[in-house]
Amino acid sequence: MDQSMNWEKFSGKRVKTVLAVSLLTVSLLSCSKSLNTNTDSLYVPTATDVTQNATLADLQSGRSVFINSCGRCHSFYSPDNLSVANWNAIIPNMASRAGLSASEAAQVTKYVTRGK
Ligand code: HEC
Repeated sequence: MDQSMNWEKFSGKRVKTVLAVSLLTVSLLSCSKSLNTNTDSLYVPTATDVTQNATLADLQSGRSVFINSCGRCHSFYSPDNLSVANWNAIIPNMASRAGLSASEAAQVTKYVTRGK
């Protein structure tokens, strides 16, 4: 048996594994910084947006949390592109992915559902 040939095969595999792991690390790291800066679709709350369930401060905090935490893995979803029912169904899942506290999740929910 030729040992040197076996080693060549073995080290070739290792190089591929190292490359694959590095690529994976790079793509995971790129997910951790804020990638999306286009906030055009994200309304800026004003007094006319205030509802029984959402103060202006709630809506403004919700917008900040949304901008800081909800564009890291994908583009910003516009609040108006999903129904209130859809947002309520999706936020718990996304809030945990984004590592939000319960109060941050509540603020984001108020923002995207326009206080409905
Ligand atoms: C850690 C990555 C990550 C973060 C942070 C994140 N998301 Fe997501 N989001 C995903 C992935 C992945 C999907 C694709 C659908 C799935 O896998 O559930 C998705 C899908 C969505 C969808 C589409 C769901 C659908 O059914 O069409 C919406 C809306 C959404 N995210 C909103 C948010 C909001 C709001 C936040 C901030 C609270 C957020 N995301 C933060 C990873 C993330």
